[in-house]
Amino acid sequence: MSFAHTELTPRVGSLIEAELPDLLSGKYAVDLRDLLEERSVVAIRGIEIDDEQQIAFAHTLGEVEASVVGEIYKVTFDKKENPVGAAINRATFFWHIDRTDLDVPTYASILSAKVLTPTGGETEFVNTYAAYDDLPDADKALLDEMQVHHCMETAFLEAFPNPSEKQLAAWQHMPKKIHPLVWHHRSGRNSLILSNSATAVVGMDEKESRELLGRLLAWATQPQFVYVHEWEINDLVIWNNTGAMHRVREYDPDYGRRLHRTTLLGDEPFDSRKGQDDREA
Ligand SMILES: [Fe+2]
Repeated sequence: MSFAHTELTPRVGSLIEAELPDLLSGKYAVDLRDLLEERSVVAIRGIEIDDEQQIAFAHTLGEVEASVVGEIYKVTFDKKENPVGAAINRATFFWHIDRTDLDVPTYASILSAKVLTPTGGETEFVNTYAAYDDLPDADKALLDEMQVHHCMETAFLEAFPNPSEKQLAAWQHMPKKIHPLVWHHRSGRNSLILSNSATAVVGMDEKESRELLGRLLAWATQPQFVYVHEWEINDLVIWNNTGAMHRVREYDPDYGRRLHRTTLLGDEPFDSRKGQDDREA
């Protein structure tokens, strides 16, 4: 590696030492991608980075998602900063992989901390490769070919149990997908695909399905697979969405907590038999 790095926990997360000009030059890009593959999360402390620099840094790592609000998305309940954030942020309090409504999910995201709450708001990450690797062989064989229905309505209902008709209609409009339970990556490694959008296992009755998904979520979120990031201002955290599940611990929504996020597009389908057709659908 071209930079100093230490493990944040034995199985997930690395802390690296880097200066902003080196990050912006792209000289670390290949090593950063390798570290993200191996460790799922990379954190850097004390990086004073503005939006333009964050976007430039993101472009060194891959293709950047340009949403309707541009290449920086402000994660906050503060309506002045993000008018729609409050309508979706609560869903991030539950374990998920981003964009299970696509066949090809986003590759990674970069967050920089701008405003923090005195308590709460830590982001938790699971290394879904490690969670798979440690499964008993009998489970690996059992899960190998299983498929799971994913639906954003399920994900949002967990966070907003009493939705308006307008909310429901919006969620129902989002694509429903079937993804494998085990992601057979092109690298030859495997990871678990678990998320709050997971509705039911294909071919199982509701009870059996709920029990299996619940058991796997409990397994994957055991402390040895989890890194909890306690935010400080000027932290920069990158996570590999193809090898991690994440959630945010509850925090006071009125405090103005704000993180700036840049997202990198993916190029690896959940299901290795599928193409990349709907990447930006
Ligand atoms: Fe997320």
